[in-house]
Amino acid sequence: MTTNNAATLPRKVVRIINGMPTTDGAGVELVRVIGQPSLMELDPFLLLDAFRSENPKDYIAGFPSHPHRGFETVTYLLNGRMRHKDNAGNEGVIAAGSVQWMTAGKGIIHSEMPEQENGLLEGFQLWINLPASHKMTAPQYQEHNNDSIPTEDRDNASIKVITGKTSTGTTGPVVQPLTDPLYLDIKLEANTEFTETLAPEHNAFIYVIRGSVSLLDEHNESVLIGRDQLAILSKGATLTLKANEQAAQFLLIAGRPLNEPISRSGPFVMNTDNEIRQAIHDYQRGQL
Ligand code: CO
Repeated sequence: MTTNNAATLPRKVVRIINGMPTTDGAGVELVRVIGQPSLMELDPFLLLDAFRSENPKDYIAGFPSHPHRGFETVTYLLNGRMRHKDNAGNEGVIAAGSVQWMTAGKGIIHSEMPEQENGLLEGFQLWINLPASHKMTAPQYQEHNNDSIPTEDRDNASIKVITGKTSTGTTGPVVQPLTDPLYLDIKLEANTEFTETLAPEHNAFIYVIRGSVSLLDEHNESVLIGRDQLAILSKGATLTLKANEQAAQFLLIAGRPLNEPISRSGPFVMNTDNEIRQAIHDYQRGQL
């Protein structure tokens, strides 16, 4: 039996994070929200990149061939198309509304290139850590298009469930028991509230895509989370948010913390510096 208060308390905003504009790949303009100096990680989440541009110059160079080892990359597109190709012969297009959940495990070398020459490209890449016991697992993909991801309709909200389970039982298609993640894309009508229960001990955050939301605590005090801001949430069992005068869209993401040491260098995330050196060595020898 636990006497931890987190099991019953509503979640609060611990900190608001503004993303850091940066360039990655062959010159893609993006905003790094997790994995930058003001938020290096939020265990088990290692990185969150947000991209949104109608200017092909910002994205056309894409992410040519590069490796990963030791974690998962999750690409979720709201608009546009990306082509994915790896060194094991896997290839495909990720379309708007689709998710590609890639377990890089012991290693993969892939490219991620825009499958469009103009128009809006908008989406996210999230990196989720793997426990030490599974960092060297065989690579694996879970890919789901827009039609195979369920959307739960409530009175004032629609909730797209990529992974995890809502309080009313809508379950996303992606399965990852190691970190038991929740990944929801939520649309909330103006001036309405949204309440959800969460695994009390999991780390969780909100990222606002459109409009703004206010988090309401048990005293009805509110904290405003603006567009393109991330709010780190305290531990707790429930969450209540209100959309302001505009309709809002936001991600609600949570996962079980691994509480393991992290050693990271670019596209490799392991537990020790030795394991990072080994990853670089393996990549240079073509043994990823
Ligand atoms: Co990649």
